[in-house]
Amino acid sequence: MTKTDTTTAAGPSQPAQPVGISRVLPEIRKPEQLARPPVVQFTAVTKTYNPGQANSYTAIRDVNFVIEDLPNKGEFVCVLGPSGCGKSTILRLVAGLEPQHPPTEGRVLVLGQPVTGPGADRGMVFQDYTSFDHRTVLENVTFGLECQHIPRKLRDELGRYWIERVGLKVKTDVDKYPHELSGGMRQRVAIARTLILKPRIILMDEPFGALDPQTRMNMQDLLVALWKEVQATVLFVTHSIEEAVFLGDRVYIMSNSPGTILRELVVQPADRPSKQMQREPKFQETVAYIRDLISELEEGRD
Ligand SMILES: Nc1ncnc2c1ncn2[C@@H]1O[C@H](COP(=O)(O)OP(=O)(O)OP(=O)(O)O)[C@@H](O)[C@H]1O
Ligand SMILES: [Mg+2]
Repeated sequence: MTKTDTTTAAGPSQPAQPVGISRVLPEIRKPEQLARPPVVQFTAVTKTYNPGQANSYTAIRDVNFVIEDLPNKGEFVCVLGPSGCGKSTILRLVAGLEPQHPPTEGRVLVLGQPVTGPGADRGMVFQDYTSFDHRTVLENVTFGLECQHIPRKLRDELGRYWIERVGLKVKTDVDKYPHELSGGMRQRVAIARTLILKPRIILMDEPFGALDPQTRMNMQDLLVALWKEVQATVLFVTHSIEEAVFLGDRVYIMSNSPGTILRELVVQPADRPSKQMQREPKFQETVAYIRDLISELEEGRD
């Protein structure tokens, strides 16, 4: 698949800087550079926790970005940045989850409307395993459909389909409880539970952070395959530069707290297995560029 980049990413004068398999944009993309209304739009968003109190803390300041609505594809956007810079804050603002929602200042729009709380158009996968302990794999995967009062026969049918799609086995896994699953299997359940609801926007907060490297790469390949099928927009937070460069069509790099988006990179799509792509020199060139940028940020912390 070729990358669709409908933006005038280079802006009026400065060209984007090619680095390995990416292009570093001279500035963060603006809404007027998009061909279509954005799926997600942050305009001058600031979040201060506990405002007016002694422990008041500004986690993100003046965050601006737009995620493009790419028809029949969806954009895969990764957010990278030092610990505590506000990545989860941004994701949870899109999800409409308290206490991150509402922002202290600025506007968060999803599909052109201000976010007022969680909604069926957005699905979230967290880092820690968030399955219900007392529910089987099938009951966990179909939980959202149950909340929507979908009849049992239909939801079990859909549940079995998605259990297979995420690489679990209907025959052996449907009746297992979360404590009987490995970390990778649990994240497969979490992904199935989200995708079954067909959200337009999938929010993922370090979903593979607790997995071993091999399982992690398998999960990355799975996610790319599923994403091509569901054609949703993905906003994916990770600490792993390799993971961001492999998965992302775009990578945002955040500054230290109070976080803001410092750089936006357009990256070639993941069209080969993670293990293979990560070995290639041009891939590594992009990774090294980002690594240097982040260590400069971390050195400048104090
Ligand atoms: N509910 C809260 N109340 C007060 N402060 C908070 C709250 N949630 C987050 N913060 C603070 O806001 C800052 C940003 O937190 P956030 O969780 O968004 O960072 P992060 O980039 O996701 O970090 P990590 O990579 O470690 O997950 C941190 O300093 C954190 O302590
Ligand atoms: Mg976080």
